[in-house]
Amino acid sequence: RKDLLDLQSLTADEIVYLLETAASFKEIVTRPVKKAPTLRGKSVATVFFEPSTRTRTSFEHAAKIMSADTYSLAAATSSATKGESLKDTMLTLDAMGIDVFVIRHSFSGAAALASKYVPNKSVINAGDGTHEHPTQGLLDLMTIREKKGQIEGLEVAIVGDIAHSRVARSNIWGLHTMGAKIRLVGPSTLMPADADRLPVKVYTDLTEGLRGADVVNVLRIQLERQDAAFFPSVREYAKLFGVSHDKLKHAASDVTVLHPGPMNRGVEISSALADDATISVINEQVTNGVAMRMAVLFWLMSATNTISGG
Ligand code: CP
Repeated sequence: RKDLLDLQSLTADEIVYLLETAASFKEIVTRPVKKAPTLRGKSVATVFFEPSTRTRTSFEHAAKIMSADTYSLAAATSSATKGESLKDTMLTLDAMGIDVFVIRHSFSGAAALASKYVPNKSVINAGDGTHEHPTQGLLDLMTIREKKGQIEGLEVAIVGDIAHSRVARSNIWGLHTMGAKIRLVGPSTLMPADADRLPVKVYTDLTEGLRGADVVNVLRIQLERQDAAFFPSVREYAKLFGVSHDKLKHAASDVTVLHPGPMNRGVEISSALADDATISVINEQVTNGVAMRMAVLFWLMSATNTISGG
């Protein structure tokens, strides 16, 4: 493969390869001295047209651990503010000799479009509109597998603002390919229009959606992608769909809770639950994110992975 644009098109073998590679790289991430020569001489540019704390920093950290040179372009301080197009941004960075582009953009499909402008370089989608966020999906799979030993057969509830969530889409496709059973839980106003064509069961009642769940992935309410007249209101949402210790009484006794971050504490997840390390694996997700991004960079830059426009 040339690029990683989504999880929908990844095979189970590819996902297993990435999970196993990331698991082996995790040892490097947790070492006191973190350095491997694997990508020496390669260059990685993060090109972000939307804000980020986790994804951008962990991609840069992953690339630096593997001895690649990293460059960081934020739209707010780039020539995009002067009207430069995505095409010209990509052609400019390509002409400088950048090898891998990590792109976040507010438009679904932006990473795929960017890939067409640099046919001989790799593009990684770091979140495009409401479409996909494949490395978040992969690090979630890694964390679930670490915690539960396997993914196949697990009951996984994805709770919250599904309609606006690229994390939900990547989770759905990755979990489906790996054999999990997926529930989408949230108000009908925050369900995607194509929910009936996805490999999921839809629940509009939190208690029913959580009943017996092995894993609960709590999503952020994305107020920035919603109309001013958000229904339900944040207060109603917190009351009806906020996940807390009390609500988890209906889930499996060994339930694991994920959240991709950033969190709205007290809205979609209670602060006490977010900080309860016996149930929540939010910090583990972040650590795994570095290892998984190392695995993705390694995979795309690997000599055996010939560029085939995939
Ligand atoms: N989960 C995630 O994508 O976080 P950031 O927006 O901070 O990158």
